[in-house]
Amino acid sequence: MNVLVIGSGGREHALAWKIAKSPLVEKVYGAPGNPGIENLDKGICVSVAADDFDMLAAYVEAQNIGLTVVGPEDPLAKGIVDALSAQGMRVFGPSASAAQLEASKRFAKEFMTRHNIPTATYAVFDDAEEAIRYVRDTGTPLVVKADGLAAGKGVTVAGDVSQAEAAIRAAMENRVFGDAGNQVVIEECLVGEEASILAFCDGTTFMPLASSQDHKPAFDNDEGPNTGGMGAYSPAPVVTDAMMKRINTEILGPCIKGMAAEGMPYKGILYAGLIITEDGPKVIEFNVRFGDPETQAILPRMTTDIVPLFLACCDGKLDQHKIEYSDWPCVTVVMASGGYPGAYKKGIPIEGITVAEALSDVMVFQAGVKQERGDLFTAGGRVLNVTAMAPTLPEAIEKAYEAVGGIQFEGAHYRTDIGKKALRHV
Ligand code: AMP
Ligand code: GLY
Repeated sequence: MNVLVIGSGGREHALAWKIAKSPLVEKVYGAPGNPGIENLDKGICVSVAADDFDMLAAYVEAQNIGLTVVGPEDPLAKGIVDALSAQGMRVFGPSASAAQLEASKRFAKEFMTRHNIPTATYAVFDDAEEAIRYVRDTGTPLVVKADGLAAGKGVTVAGDVSQAEAAIRAAMENRVFGDAGNQVVIEECLVGEEASILAFCDGTTFMPLASSQDHKPAFDNDEGPNTGGMGAYSPAPVVTDAMMKRINTEILGPCIKGMAAEGMPYKGILYAGLIITEDGPKVIEFNVRFGDPETQAILPRMTTDIVPLFLACCDGKLDQHKIEYSDWPCVTVVMASGGYPGAYKKGIPIEGITVAEALSDVMVFQAGVKQERGDLFTAGGRVLNVTAMAPTLPEAIEKAYEAVGGIQFEGAHYRTDIGKKALRHV
């Protein structure tokens, strides 16, 4: 079978890498893909944009592609699954209506309220002055979120009223997120450690993947601006077996049941971003796709062939499967362009990936990278995901940073404390 992966980041390289390991798979196509995917033995990239559904459908047909796996949220929210499945194509991901769980924070909050899914208390506003009055009356800390998709940058945890006010004005008056800021959701600020739980879903059944934890702020000790994610590890010890049971019964189960009951059966990956509070797990966001960089830390641990799982989700047969993992923890460190998440230079030569990958159990997943005449150059904010597995978490961390040490590009920025939070639990 030929498989198409939509997207071009480190998550998509990790997905293509794992898919290529399946004996069922002949070729893995990336649209538009990246050099990491292109350089896989079975890899081929094609320059079709992720939101050009007509071209993608023509390509699926022409290349005899039996399964399409969608990486990013944008094409899902725009209806790629509806468009391709209407032509009888097998595509892994939720419909546009189910993708509202990520594409509209208001939709997600109202859905959670209807189905008693634990989350922060909230209020929704479409008028900036009203929102500001609410903040003044309620007091801080509070979290201000643009309603729509804002590439992970639409959230401000406001410690004082002026910060909250500035976030509201930026979204609603200065429209820095465009239409995504027409409405804002203002939430109670939850306290606790974060964890990401991803689950395969086939419309009625769900199957959680191994737990993981992202590191969103740009700098060590969770300081600095939020990014798309600066590193991750799996498993996350904050998610004990008992906590996982609660997440299943209080969050994932009611979500899948609720979506089916409301006529939007959920297929694909459901990603619950959680804070583990004193009162138990609470949802800070739902995403409708694999996490980036969580996927890069989860998939190397998965020993099960992933392709039958994708097919089972598409066909409503997930209950016939199970997923197995290596006991070894996995750590992924993001090497970013200097300046990210603000402005940064592109086109800087990257050296040393081969040296890093020569270490045992090290994988370098490529994200913002371009290839010219065999040489690699930076082409985005998050450039590489340097990933290592080892028998214990401290060893995996050490190995990941040893691999990072072998890679050079001018201005490279990375956090030096990925995985440190987990060591508190060990
Ligand atoms: P999001 O883009 O929704 O993942 O939010 C970005 C970050 O904001 C999260 O990773 C959390 O650290 C923080 N955050 C979001 N919602 C809340 C909340 N209700 N309470 C505390 N922190 C939050
Ligand atoms: N790692 C956060 C995200 O994928 O949204």
